Amino acid sequence: MYPSLEGKVVVITGAATGLGRAMAVRFGAEKAKVVINYFNEEQEVQAIIDEVEKAGGSATAIQGDVTKEEDVKRMIDHAVKTFGSLDVMVNNAGIENEVPSEDLSLDDWNKVISTNLTGQFLGSREALDYMLENDIKGSIINMSSVHQKIPWPHFVHYAASKGGVKLLTETLALEFAPHGIRVNCIAPGAIDTPINAEKFEDPELKKGVIELIPMGYIGKPEEIASCAVWLASSEASYVTGLTLFADGGMTQYPGFQAGKG
Ligand code: NAI
Repeated sequence: MYPSLEGKVVVITGAATGLGRAMAVRFGAEKAKVVINYFNEEQEVQAIIDEVEKAGGSATAIQGDVTKEEDVKRMIDHAVKTFGSLDVMVNNAGIENEVPSEDLSLDDWNKVISTNLTGQFLGSREALDYMLENDIKGSIINMSSVHQKIPWPHFVHYAASKGGVKLLTETLALEFAPHGIRVNCIAPGAIDTPINAEKFEDPELKKGVIELIPMGYIGKPEEIASCAVWLASSEASYVTGLTLFADGGMTQYPGFQAGKG
């Protein structure tokens, strides 16, 4: 547990499902005040608020599209109006779709880049603006992926967006370090969330993914949430510009495990 997170105001984008939801609940368990941004999951929202409150935190929800400037501004305003501040911004919302690159439409390219990269830029910019104006030594956490490092055929738009998140994070870390604002990202490997549901329903595809993970299992959303609370806490007070890989070893050249390399 991280006592420094008690009462802190945390905005999480795309928090109705998967990693965002697990982070919302974990920040709740740390007694934080959580702003749950959701996209089109109205039906789910009350259940998530209840879950965060049951875990020990406070929660409110706000619909919004991270690709829209006015929606992102509204999320921050909502946090400040409801809970009085903003201490932690988690830019988590993201999408992917598989298309061979020679067939990738400009529409698909733009959709992924604007959600995964522009959305994180907008969330970071609005949070930074508020933190600077109010002299808050806050923390920004961007959700990257092992694909900021591992090339991914048929997902060139996704890999490009996550490569962008890496340098977005590092550049903002450098720019705002003098203000005491820390900017980091988490790069998960394969985690059991709705984004992977189709793939993991197919036993052959799932087996293929597990073969790429030296630790031998698909990660749990809670294993990413625990990285987020550490990064946001004062225990990580000297950490900025970091990509925290949480991937069961996926980025450590699994083909070279003993006997194979
Ligand atoms: P997910 O599909 O459950 O979550 C994505 C969330 O983003 C959903 O709640 C969705 O409604 C929301 N969203 C999509 N477009 C949006 C928009 N325009 N505005 C606001 N919200 C929007 O999948 P998951 O796994 O929880 O993904 C969360 C993040 O983690 C993504 O950035 C993803 O790229 C990243 N990630 C996930 C991995 C995994 O294996 N699950 C691995 C590496 C990275």
